[in-house]
Amino acid sequence: MVVSLPPIPPAFSLGVCDYPEHVPWEQWRHYPERQRELGITYVRIAEFAWSRIEPRAGEFDWAWLDDAVQALSDADRQIVMCTPTATPPAWLIRKHPEILPVGADGHVRNFGSRKHYDHASPIYREHSRRITRAIAERYGRHPAVAGWQTDNEWGCHSTTRSYGGASKTAFRSWLERRYGSLEALNAAWGNVFWSQEYTDWAQIDPPNQTVTEPNPSHVLDFARFASDMVNEFQAEQVAILRELSPGRWITHNYMMQFMEFDHYANCELLDFASWDSYPAGQVERMLPESDKVRWARTGHPDFISWNHDLYRGLKGRRAFWVMEQGVGQVNWAPSNALPAAGAAALWTAQAYAHGASCVSYFRWRAAAIAQELMHSGLLRHDETLDRGGEEVAGLELAGRPNAEVPARVALLHDYESQWIYDTQPHSQNASYLRQAMLFYGALRSLGVDVDIRHPDSDLSGYDVIVAPALQLMGEERARHLASYAATSRLVFGPRTAYRTPTGRVHEDGQPGPLRGLVGHRLLNFDGMRPGLTVRAGGHVVETWAESYEPAGAETLMTYDDGPLAGQAAAIRNGNTYSIGAWSPALIQSVLARVLHDAGIATMALPEGVRVSRRGGAEIWMNFNLDPATLPDGSVLAPVSFEFRG
Ligand code: GAL
Repeated sequence: MVVSLPPIPPAFSLGVCDYPEHVPWEQWRHYPERQRELGITYVRIAEFAWSRIEPRAGEFDWAWLDDAVQALSDADRQIVMCTPTATPPAWLIRKHPEILPVGADGHVRNFGSRKHYDHASPIYREHSRRITRAIAERYGRHPAVAGWQTDNEWGCHSTTRSYGGASKTAFRSWLERRYGSLEALNAAWGNVFWSQEYTDWAQIDPPNQTVTEPNPSHVLDFARFASDMVNEFQAEQVAILRELSPGRWITHNYMMQFMEFDHYANCELLDFASWDSYPAGQVERMLPESDKVRWARTGHPDFISWNHDLYRGLKGRRAFWVMEQGVGQVNWAPSNALPAAGAAALWTAQAYAHGASCVSYFRWRAAAIAQELMHSGLLRHDETLDRGGEEVAGLELAGRPNAEVPARVALLHDYESQWIYDTQPHSQNASYLRQAMLFYGALRSLGVDVDIRHPDSDLSGYDVIVAPALQLMGEERARHLASYAATSRLVFGPRTAYRTPTGRVHEDGQPGPLRGLVGHRLLNFDGMRPGLTVRAGGHVVETWAESYEPAGAETLMTYDDGPLAGQAAAIRNGNTYSIGAWSPALIQSVLARVLHDAGIATMALPEGVRVSRRGGAEIWMNFNLDPATLPDGSVLAPVSFEFRG
């Protein structure tokens, strides 16, 4: 199905997530007017409201939602309507407990929170289509409904993969379709190893609860299968919404640095991507222990903007939304620090700077009930403006042009490489995302705008293409990448092209079909434990070091010591560069040289200071709790931003 994309609205807007079902009507009915006064255009509703929409099987209560839609429409607000499938109600689960997912520990995950369903469940699929049709029939053509969000955060709370029930059966059929014969599957996975060969499809289980680690190729295919189930689940909803809600856009609110399903495939049927940004919680969840205090009150600028750049790239260079922008503290991190004064405004400006067309805050009023009652909103429980709300009220960003981000650098990213990389990290601090962030952080610290793109996408027009951790490589992908070598500079990181698409290694040596392009052969790799380091070109290397034997290429840096001493750590073959060492300083120095050769201006930004460009504007941001001196000598106040041009 070819989606013809609706135009991006010319001006940047604000939105908010609201839950009319959480508040008595007499109280809630005043909210749309207050939202208008605060400059909020879009209001997202109905996301988790299934038990109120359909309190008993087949018995619908639309009155309260009709009233909410009417009140928003009367206040001239635009509605983002949701399919409520993230929360199947109790009556449905008790009638069909087989909908429930099975965790990696083999236990059924029960009713009592949310996302308690297996995407492969035919029964749940039927109910998902049924409720989607009901809500789309009711509101699909309502003039106040601007667009749709499917479900909520695919995969949230580790729910992409269900390890039993419907998924177990569906996985077997999926494998049969993919491989056609057990001989082909056994060969692709290398099942002769440890006598893992199958003689019947029914012998194959999801790769969990094994005595020691399961076969990485089995894990890779289960990840592919689970990703396909999420995407199929969504596609069924999208087809119904397209039919019953013509002219409205459809999006989904993806999560921060979330890798469990293929978002590129998922977004194919959508009009644009959205994501949910909680920078303070992200610090607690994702940063190494040593960095958590440093960024606790502002979030880490690169960890935030990685998502902006990624979600802008899902559909090429397309404006995206932040569907949920946290404005205060969250409730779900191990510790939930209050953000610094100015952080909510800075995060909004950063989203704009990276190409968002709308930032929608989470949530309007802090919940007075249940799991999230300690989570901030724009309003406190008593409906006074909270700190974040005050900042949003003072913002002057709405109405700015939704111009393009003029990135000349593409960073290649894909989900399958992560699935296989993290199955066998081989060094306890190594991970796909950490390795990708080494390269992304270096580019951002050099003041360069970056598009994050899929390796198989059209990369023409980029002057520099950086592939930090592209582990899976077949002939076709190798040819595709090589086709850019005449016009762009390509940079490859460690473990590039280590494996074939089914997860085996290339038996003629690494980097397999990319050898001609990169002009070297992988010699050895060294998975170092924390504290163990070597040096290369004078730079400290930790976690991972790999060495190359040049075949026509020029050695840029060699290892100074350790078992790889004297061997190449960084190599250049014409327009193609390979970096084998985990070293921020080494990576930054090679990238600075490549960018310079490509005619892209760089600057050494102070820690916590970032610059991004959108249209003709340059947006400077200071994520430090102290004033920062910019390269031109001017000073930027703590936790603040400035537009130039
Ligand atoms: C998001 C989710 C919201 C809310 C929020 C709290 O992950 O989509 O429904 O739970 O977290 O921070």
